[in-house]
Amino acid sequence: MERFERLKELKERALQGGGPKAIEKQHSKGKLTARERLELLLDPGSFVELGTLVTTRATEFGMAEKRFPGDGVVTGFGTIDGRLVFVYAQDFTVMGGSLGEMHAMKIARVLELALKAGAPVIGINDSGGARIQEGIDALRGYGDIFRLNTLASGVVPQIALIMGPCAGGAVYSPALMDFVIMVDKTSYMFITGPQVVKAVTGQEVSFEDLGGARVHNTKSGNAHFLASSEEEAFSILRALLSYLPSNSEEEPPVVETGDDPNRMDPELDEIVPDDPKKAYDMREIIERVFDRDTFLEVQAGFGRSVIVGFARLNGRSVGVVANNPKVLAGVLDIDSSDKAARFVRFCDAFNIPIITFVDVPGYLPGVEQEHGGIIRHGAKLLYAYSEATVPLLTVIVRKAYGGAYIAMGSKHLGADVVFAWPTAEIAVMGPEGAAQIIFRKQLKEAEDKEALLQKLTQEYRERIANPYVAAERGYVDDIIYPRETRPRLVQALEALRPKREELPPKKHGNIPL
Ligand code: HXC
Repeated sequence: MERFERLKELKERALQGGGPKAIEKQHSKGKLTARERLELLLDPGSFVELGTLVTTRATEFGMAEKRFPGDGVVTGFGTIDGRLVFVYAQDFTVMGGSLGEMHAMKIARVLELALKAGAPVIGINDSGGARIQEGIDALRGYGDIFRLNTLASGVVPQIALIMGPCAGGAVYSPALMDFVIMVDKTSYMFITGPQVVKAVTGQEVSFEDLGGARVHNTKSGNAHFLASSEEEAFSILRALLSYLPSNSEEEPPVVETGDDPNRMDPELDEIVPDDPKKAYDMREIIERVFDRDTFLEVQAGFGRSVIVGFARLNGRSVGVVANNPKVLAGVLDIDSSDKAARFVRFCDAFNIPIITFVDVPGYLPGVEQEHGGIIRHGAKLLYAYSEATVPLLTVIVRKAYGGAYIAMGSKHLGADVVFAWPTAEIAVMGPEGAAQIIFRKQLKEAEDKEALLQKLTQEYRERIANPYVAAERGYVDDIIYPRETRPRLVQALEALRPKREELPPKKHGNIPL
C-alpha cells in the first residue's frame, strides 16, 4: 500500500547497513555483520529492535549524505537460553561503526533499559571510535555511555564482545564492563593505532602486537576470554551467562549437573607431592572437586600464578580463586592480585559464593614488583575479600605463608569456613627461610651447616608450619582428608546459603587503585 511505502523503504535500508560493498568487505575480513551476529547470539526469533530509524542530524563534512537508518548500531533486546538480555551491535559497514551523537544515544538507551529491567547488557563492539565529523557531540555520547556503564556496574552483568577494531573512545566502554571477550586475529583494542604510535614515539608496531586479542589476554589483562572465531565467542558468552544472575538482587541460576554431592575422590589424597618444592596442577584439584566439566576459567592467560573462574558445586554457581603452584610457585604478584581482586568483587556483587584454594609462598619480591606498586595492587585483594559478604569458603592445600596467607581468603578477612588439608603449612614464612633466620647463630657455628639446617627446618615444620596450630586457634575450622573436600564444601555451601551480612553504612569505600 502506498501509505506504507516510506516505512518499507526505510526498514529495507536499515537491513542493508552500509550497503553490499561494505558488507562484502566485512565478510572478506572474516567478520560477520551486526545483524548476522545478533542472529547467532540470540534465541531464534527473539530479537526486538529499537531505534531502527534513528539517524544522524549532523550535516558538516559530508554527513548530510550519510544518513543511514540506525546510525551504525543495531540495538534492542532478546533472549539467550530463554533469559532476557539487552544488546547492541555496532555496524562497521556504516562509517566504520564510528560513534556519533545518535549512535551513542541508542547505546545509552539500551543501558538505561537494562538497568530498569534488571537484565544483562551485551555489547558487540566493532568501531573506529568517536565519529570524527561529529566532534564534541560524539565525545558527549561517549561520556553518557561511560556514566551509564558505571551506574550499571554491580547492578546488571555487562559483557563486551570485541569483534573488530576498537579504537579511541571505543575501548573504554568495554573496559568499564565486567567481562571482555576478544576474537583472535580480527579484534583489536587500543587508544591510538599503530600510525599515531609511530608518529608520537617512533615505535613501529603491528595492530596485532599493539592491541590484538592475544596481547590483551596475556599482557594487559584488558580481556578475559580469547575466542578463535566469532561463533566461539558467542558460545563462551552463553556459557558465562549461565553462571550469572540477571541482576544483583537475584540468585544465580541452579543447574542440575547430575554429579553426586557426596562423591569422595581418593586420588585427591595423592596430588600434593611429598617434596614441598615440587609443583602440581591446581586445575586438577578444581576439576575433581566441583561438578564434572563445569569449570569455566576466566583470564586464563593473564596473572597466571592465580587461577580464577566459575564452576558449579551441587548445581550452584560458585567463583573459584586458587593459587597455581605451576606458575611462579603460585605467588601473588601485581597482575594476579589485580585479577583475583576484580573477580572476587564481581562474585560478591552478584551473589556468587567464593571458594578459595590456597598454596601460596607469599607476595612476589623484587624491585620491579615494588616499583610497579605491588603494595597498592596486593592491597586490592585484601580489600576485596574483606568487603565481600557472599559465603566465603577456603581450603588451604599446602603453603599459606605470611601476608599472602591472610590475603587468600583467610578467616581473618572474613572467610566463613576454612578447611585445611593435612599437607597445609601455615606460617609467617617457609620453614627453611624461617630456620635460617631464627637459628642464624647456631648455623654459623655448625660444622655441617646443611645437615643442621635440614634438621631445624624439619623441626620448624613439625612445630609451626603445619595446619594443627591454626586449627587449635580456630583459624582453621577443620583439617580434612583431601578425598572428602567436595562433600565438605557442599555441606558448608548449603549451610551458608541464607548468609546475610551488612557492611557499615557508607557512601562507598576507597579501594586502592
Ligand atoms: C569517522 C570513520 C572513523 C571515525 C573509521 N571511519 N573510523 N569515520 N570517524 N573514527 C570510516 C572510514 O573513514 C571509512 O569510511 C570506514 O569507516 C571504514 O574504515 P577503514 O579505515 O576503511 O577500515 P579499516 O582499514 O579496517 O581500518 C579501521 C580503523 C581505521 C583501524 C578503525 O578506520 C581508523 O584508524 N580509524 C580512526 C580511528 C581513530 O583514530 N579513532 C579515534 C577517534 S577519537 P569510508 O567512507 O572510506 O568507507 C576518539 C576519542 C574519544 O575516539 C575519546 C572518548 C574518551
